[in-house]
Amino acid sequence: MCGIFGYVGARTDASALVLHGLKQLEYRGYDSWGIAVPRDGAIVVEKRTGKIGQAETTLPASSIGLGHTRWATHGGVTDENAHPHLDCAGRLAIIHNGIVQNHRDLRRELQDAGHTFRSETDTEVVAHLLEDELGRHGDSAEALVQALMATFQRLEGLNAIAALDVSSGCLAAAKNGSPLTLGWASDGMLLASDYSALLEHTRRMTFLDENEAALLTPDGIAIFNALTGERLPPEVKEVEWSAEQADLQGFPDFMSKEIHEQPHVLRRIARERRQDAERLAALIRDADETHLVGCGTAAHAAMAAQYLLARVAGRRSFFANGSELAYMERFFKPGALAIAFSQSGETIDVIDSVRGARERGAALAAVVNVEGSTLYRMSDHAVLLGAGPERCVLATKSFTAKLAVTLLTAYALEGRVDEAAELLERAATEIEAMLSDWRRDYIRQIAEQIYLQEHLYVIGRGPSYPMALEAALKVKEVSYVHAEGFAGGELKHGVIALIEPGTPCLVLAPNDETHDDILSGAMEVRARGGTIVGIGPRHDEAFDYHVPHADLGEASSIVQAVPAQLLGYYLALLRGHDPDKPRNLAKSVTVE
Ligand code: G6P
Repeated sequence: MCGIFGYVGARTDASALVLHGLKQLEYRGYDSWGIAVPRDGAIVVEKRTGKIGQAETTLPASSIGLGHTRWATHGGVTDENAHPHLDCAGRLAIIHNGIVQNHRDLRRELQDAGHTFRSETDTEVVAHLLEDELGRHGDSAEALVQALMATFQRLEGLNAIAALDVSSGCLAAAKNGSPLTLGWASDGMLLASDYSALLEHTRRMTFLDENEAALLTPDGIAIFNALTGERLPPEVKEVEWSAEQADLQGFPDFMSKEIHEQPHVLRRIARERRQDAERLAALIRDADETHLVGCGTAAHAAMAAQYLLARVAGRRSFFANGSELAYMERFFKPGALAIAFSQSGETIDVIDSVRGARERGAALAAVVNVEGSTLYRMSDHAVLLGAGPERCVLATKSFTAKLAVTLLTAYALEGRVDEAAELLERAATEIEAMLSDWRRDYIRQIAEQIYLQEHLYVIGRGPSYPMALEAALKVKEVSYVHAEGFAGGELKHGVIALIEPGTPCLVLAPNDETHDDILSGAMEVRARGGTIVGIGPRHDEAFDYHVPHADLGEASSIVQAVPAQLLGYYLALLRGHDPDKPRNLAKSVTVE
């Protein structure tokens, strides 16, 4: 939640640079945005509610700037509540990602001491606390970071904070929980809550660790332990992703771009992730029990992994949502393995739950897309998806990539990893065919027939059950059509009461042991007037529409995911919604 971008260096167009950086980060939050730069020894701020979209800035030329896109937690979506927030003197600008849990007490204390608040946010306490601390530490750059660390230590909760100080002309930041990456460019130093926004400036990054602080001056970055103040050597890493990957590359939006990238991502995983999968398989083999955890789309990938491990490798595993695993934490013990699935590697519910498991002696593995992310760093073994930056709020390519890594792992457990790689090649070819103009057109035509419907249901059995949940999530997130996925066998236990003439129902019907039963369900829906969209290799009389795909055995799920992505996409366009930024959602949920 919330995007942070800062720059200090030799360039004089800091406000434009920060604005551009925020546009790259908008998927993290898009209620409102704001930028601060210095002018004549004081801070000037531009902040507005709404999406940053095509916004321009009128801020003056400057060689330092700090900005934020907001996903509101404390305080409504207003210009006043948008970040940055200033101290009383207007010397400091503060931005923040997270929740300051003790903000009420701190606000009271600061108001009693004479500070004037201008917003309802928890963030503003940071500005006033830092103002007081700076009064004790002085005007230098070193004083700024010392004061920021002292401020940070007074905050309860998980927070990333960054400050722009006019007096020293520097930026300082500290974090626990929420992500912050620092970039080393030839013409200045940068900070951002997601390194994809830094790629056009540099690929040399420092990932700020838990309870670390940073001081950014025009010539370099110093790192500190934010709790002890001790100076630490900065670890600089050259990241894999490139700036081009983060562009639209001719596509109208990131959702369609990322859907189309899936064949390439699958082939890459088939080629480059075998060893990683073998290692993950070894961890599973050695574990007494394996727990799979994720949130949102990643939860569906974790659930799909449960079926794949059982079907391919005869391994029992346990799935839980990130927010639910904590309630089972007491069952974790040495010998257990938790595998976290996450695109961002920053989802707080997943991090918290696996941290709890780890404290009880479990080993930790992660299947993540973002190198250097919290889950990547905290796990004993991390498999990188290599899917490149995913900018649409909805997860598409990262989902099929997680399925692909799981497929490799399940087959690796059986010593058959080559077979899985071949299946992934075939899945890539099949998805390419599904994305051809005429096949996409067919799905668009289905969307045109159903886009005014209020409800949509998806049924699947066995390995297609998590795919049904994911298909429904895709449709509802992006089009706001109420969509639910169900286990096909549950149809008669309630769902069928919801079917009315014309109600669309997607039926996932692969060539496996679920085929005949799921078709019986489809007939029952059809008998009540439902419109059936069948997704599977074989046509059936139950289908009003049929989206065919080749039978790819255990890789069929990967291919099944794509029609629902396209259907959701076209429904969103027909209903007039921005597919990249659905209302109320954020790409990375870093607060509880
Ligand atoms: C948010 C996003 C979802 C995503 C989920 C988990 O809810 O909107 O698209 O699936 O977080 O994110 P992660 O980064 O852990 O995969």
